[in-house]
Amino acid sequence: MRTKIVAGNWKMNKMVQQGVSFLQDCQQSLMANPLHSNVQLIICPPLLHLDAMTKVKDGHIKLGAQNCAAYEQGAYTGEVSAQMLQDIGVDYVIIGHSERRQYFMESSDQILEKIHQALAHKLRVILCCGEPLEVREASTQESFVQKQLEQTLGKLTADEMKHIIIAYEPIWAIGTGKTASPEQAQQMHAFIRNFLIHQFSEAVAHQTSILYGGSCKPSNAVLLFSQTDIDGGLIGGASLQLEDFMAIARACEQVLEENQTY
Ligand code: PGA
Repeated sequence: MRTKIVAGNWKMNKMVQQGVSFLQDCQQSLMANPLHSNVQLIICPPLLHLDAMTKVKDGHIKLGAQNCAAYEQGAYTGEVSAQMLQDIGVDYVIIGHSERRQYFMESSDQILEKIHQALAHKLRVILCCGEPLEVREASTQESFVQKQLEQTLGKLTADEMKHIIIAYEPIWAIGTGKTASPEQAQQMHAFIRNFLIHQFSEAVAHQTSILYGGSCKPSNAVLLFSQTDIDGGLIGGASLQLEDFMAIARACEQVLEENQTY
């Protein structure tokens, strides 16, 4: 069975101590009431928080970075390498988030280099894709996302795909309170899974977790996660409050358990 994943993307929020306390509270709550073993919780705080947070993490939650360098090491002022992340015990890295593509001009080539760096240092990658509003309005979102995937995943091997999670995040739904409908999201997720079949194989398509991101919150998580090809969520705003983040994790668990009883 594919792993179900709820990953919190804190973006540029919280101070270090707040991050540490959040993680401790989250772990305490999971200790008292463990999550289904097939649901993985991940927190991706700002880079600066990661070292302190890896020191208090127990086995319940994995930690991820929101970015890594496209280079191995050297004269790249301000950058943090995949190897440095691995060295302090980080497990995941988000690559190609739309905010990085848009505000920091990240190209597909750079994104691919970052993926290579992450994989070389045993980090699992959460690769983001998704279309802006004008593309959705022109109904060309599938070819847009296909191109994003071809330029990145299209250059990987089936073996490398074992370490990749895809997050579909329509840009018009990020931080806007406007969620894609479960049908819109499912349609794109099925399209992405189909891309994986054609690019790699049925087996790769079957094993790859595809997350939805974009104004996912406790009130819509169950409906979204109930869709056949949605394997959890990448959560921005709603991951900043422990109660909301845990409610979304429980929603993921609930859907998994309901599906198992049929
Ligand atoms: P949001 O952000 O949940 O605040 O819309 C999602 C994301 O950008 O990962």
